[in-house]
Amino acid sequence: MAADNQKQLKEIGKRRTFAIISHPDAGKTTLTEKFLLFGGAIQTAGAVKSNKIKKHATSDFMEIERQRGISVATSVLSFEYHDTLINLLDTPGHKDFAEDTYRTLTAVDSVVMVIDSVKGVEEQTRRLMEVCRMRDTPVIVFVNKLDRDGKNPFDLLDEIEDELKINLHPLSWPINNGKDFKGVYNLYDKQLLLFNPNQKVSDTDTPLKDLKDPVLEKKIGEKDANQLREDVELIEGVYGDFDRGAYLGGTLAPVFFGSAINNFGVKELLETFIRISPIPQPREVTTRKVLPTESKFSGFVFKIHANLDPRHRDRIAFLRVCSGEFERNKYYHHVRLDKDIRFSNPYTFLAREKDVIDNAWPGDVVGLYDSGNFKIGDTLTEGEDFYFTGIPSFSPEIFKEVVNKDPMKTKQLEKGLLQLTDEGVAQLFTQFGGNKKIIGCVGDLQFEVIQYRLKNEYGASVEFVALPFYKACWISSRDSQKLQDFIKFKSANIAEDKDGMLVYLAQSEWFLNTERTNNPDIEFHFTSEIHKQG
Ligand code: G4P
Repeated sequence: MAADNQKQLKEIGKRRTFAIISHPDAGKTTLTEKFLLFGGAIQTAGAVKSNKIKKHATSDFMEIERQRGISVATSVLSFEYHDTLINLLDTPGHKDFAEDTYRTLTAVDSVVMVIDSVKGVEEQTRRLMEVCRMRDTPVIVFVNKLDRDGKNPFDLLDEIEDELKINLHPLSWPINNGKDFKGVYNLYDKQLLLFNPNQKVSDTDTPLKDLKDPVLEKKIGEKDANQLREDVELIEGVYGDFDRGAYLGGTLAPVFFGSAINNFGVKELLETFIRISPIPQPREVTTRKVLPTESKFSGFVFKIHANLDPRHRDRIAFLRVCSGEFERNKYYHHVRLDKDIRFSNPYTFLAREKDVIDNAWPGDVVGLYDSGNFKIGDTLTEGEDFYFTGIPSFSPEIFKEVVNKDPMKTKQLEKGLLQLTDEGVAQLFTQFGGNKKIIGCVGDLQFEVIQYRLKNEYGASVEFVALPFYKACWISSRDSQKLQDFIKFKSANIAEDKDGMLVYLAQSEWFLNTERTNNPDIEFHFTSEIHKQG
């Protein structure tokens, strides 16, 4: 038993599970690709972009991704670097899929946030940071595109601190930018790293414990040497020593500068990341806190993806292992369904292929073939009843009625709607007392995806008719008569969700507020978490 425990500790200590997040175009894909190159997971640059990896690791099922040039599906890529097992969870960049990204962030232990040095903080950066703050997720900032004429680094740090409301601590410092960009000084390791735009790799590191060393002049010239000394003195005076505890607590973000496309500053980022980033962390469940070191297995589903391979009808549930050891063919307790199930072909996401695995450890993400057992937020245990908390579910903001264009395919349509909405990309409502199917999403693009997938995966043709609602909220009341009356008077605005829960669809904020004022006995809920502690 003790030996087993040692093994578990070792496996946990080896793992880093994180996501790279950014506003679209800041360089997330490029940085991911460089990380994979270092990890030996891919051999050539451009493989991520050209979807070669995606083809194997995730979805080539969705033509729409290619047509629109966006990454819709969240994928997981695992690779080893210097004895560390890195699980990198990719997130869709498009804002209409933000919900998917937010859920993925519940399955990581830390994030790397890429910021474009020219554009600074952008809209998605702010929203993503809010999600990180909800769970105090440790963040490392990578300021990218130093090869372009960007903002002054001090101004940029101020902007990031102000806008993202997080304290920063630079661990590297740039020497100029744009065409004058000469490299960075690594404040953490006290090394000089020179940029050579033609070489496409970092120049060899020059240890430089003392910046007064005249070798600095030789390397970067007198003017820049003096500027760097001045900058570093200022930084060290202002920021002091790096406080790793504050980083792990989510209140302090270390900052690196570089250029992903030139593979500059990326290795340093990766190596520091491995040293300072958190190993798999404890997680809150409805009844207590679960430690990764517990002997019994537990995990939760944060994403469901249908038909990765269009020849098969299976869905894949992505399960984050949170404690114990996950084993193939062992029966686990599905808490919501109260039944025991086992998995004969669980797989991990090693970058080049899907590998069936025999076991997995905390921090790992396992792909489970699913024939309809799973919903987002489902928990598997070795018998204990609890749910992992903090998995967000958002009130949809765009509503459309589903119009069936092919009555011969009604059954397929219903199945398709149920399965696709189980994946969490959209929510399905049925008009109260009627048959009208309503889909609610957070972004318009999801309707296109649903329409496309219903046609391609289920053979069902649909059109959507926009409905004038702005928000869905769940309603309940202690007074059942009052609830009945409300439903009767407002029947045009009432629907049922997939679980038969009553929902009020409000046309506008004004209507919603008016109904709340006029009906003090009715409670209006805006669910924010699938499972809550309590
Ligand atoms: P994303 O996943 O965050 O959306 O960004 P992505 O990596 O796709 O990068 C967006 C654009 O920025 C790409 O250019 C990419 O080549 C470029 N880029 C990434 N890192 C750097 C950098 O360090 N310096 C500069 N100057 N550019 C960088 P693109 O023109 O959209 O695509 P491509 O034709 O280069 O593939």
